[in-house]
Amino acid sequence: MEEGKDSTATSRTNQYRVLPQRLLQLLVLFLIFCTAFLVISIYMIRYFGVHSVVTATQPSFQPCIEEPTSLEHWIRPQANLLHTMTDKELLWRASFSPRIKKYPFTRVTKIAFMFLTKGPLPLAPLWERFFKGHKGLYSIYIHSLPSYQANFSSSSVFYRRQIPSQIAEWGKTSMCDAERRLLANALLDVSNEWFVLLSESCIPLYNFGVIYHYILKSKYSFIGAFDDPGPYGRGRYNKYMAPEVNITQWRKGSQWFEINRRLAIYIVEDTTFYPKFAELCKPACYVDEHYFPTMLTIQAAKLLANRSITWVDWSRGGPHPATFGRTDITEEFLKRILGGHSCIYNDRPSSICFLFARKFAPSALEPLLMLAQDFLGF
Ligand SMILES: *[C@@H]1O[C@H](CO)[C@@H](O)[C@H](O)[C@H]1NC(C)=O
Ligand SMILES: *[C@@H]1O[C@H](CO)[C@@H](O)[C@H](O)[C@H]1NC(C)=O
Ligand SMILES: *[C@@H]1O[C@H](CO)[C@@H](O)[C@H](O)[C@H]1NC(C)=O
Repeated sequence: MEEGKDSTATSRTNQYRVLPQRLLQLLVLFLIFCTAFLVISIYMIRYFGVHSVVTATQPSFQPCIEEPTSLEHWIRPQANLLHTMTDKELLWRASFSPRIKKYPFTRVTKIAFMFLTKGPLPLAPLWERFFKGHKGLYSIYIHSLPSYQANFSSSSVFYRRQIPSQIAEWGKTSMCDAERRLLANALLDVSNEWFVLLSESCIPLYNFGVIYHYILKSKYSFIGAFDDPGPYGRGRYNKYMAPEVNITQWRKGSQWFEINRRLAIYIVEDTTFYPKFAELCKPACYVDEHYFPTMLTIQAAKLLANRSITWVDWSRGGPHPATFGRTDITEEFLKRILGGHSCIYNDRPSSICFLFARKFAPSALEPLLMLAQDFLGF
């Protein structure tokens, strides 16, 4: 019994000694296996795995960017104006409009200032001053030749406001394609309610508050549209434009317009009148002078003021209006542009008839900056 007891004890102690050894061996093996697995995994991820790992997780990220999951997606203005849409795609997209008139959010209405220029904006410093402090009430769009590289600093209101342009040659064909493209780009921002077409030689004649209020309170859109019975008016009408365009609807006017969102949509969605004009209005008929006034008269005569709010001086005669440079810009000159007008505003006589003026040469910038505070109010 004693011996047996002893032997059992010895064998037990032996067992106890053997067991930890085996466990230790197993543990070491396991550790080696783990280390090997880790090393192989790291190697695999670094050299083959990264792409497949990222691709595998992508579907769970993508919907956050692509899918319109909240109303915000439809309201927020696009951060990058350089989309990849063709004109055809863009006009189609821009023609979308809500059928419910009341917006389900607080819509702060903006004026879209659309600059049509070959390249630079020499009067930009004057405009910078005009826009200062009114962020959220305006948006800016610039259409220039595709070859032109804009060079505004990131603090400028014009920084990255260029839209994709497809003009091949300036002045060769009508500017209407470019103007429709500007409108379509501006329509993509649901907050833009009014659309003003400007050139690089235009200046504002009042401060932002006055201009915003004048446009906001107007019952009508401002575009020159008159019926000229003479050779430069009805004389340019082509009888093959009927029945879409009747000679009684034929209008003339300059293209420097201010129109509301509804009229802007009429313009981008038009597939009836524009092809007719493109085909049948060739020099001495000019699409630039007749398309917008005629088409808008047909679509929405009651919404038009039939006058432009961009002042221009034809008094010097010739085919082009006067351009004003450094020596022209005096106190008397600005008083002359601002005063002495009479027109109809909201069906009542008014002396404030023009909000913008053209044409100003780059040399006019310096004197304009000096006089703007006292005479233009900014
Ligand atoms: C861009 O701006 C910088 C500094 O404002 C100027 O040095 C440079 O010449 C400009 N480039 C062009 C192409 O206008
Ligand atoms: C143009 O419209 C007028 C009245 O609106 C009509 O009398 C005339 O016949 C029309 N002319 C043509 C060429 O359709
Ligand atoms: C503008 O002219 C159209 C006719 O072409 C007319 O129906 C409309 O009432 C005019 N607008 C104003 C404000 O007089």
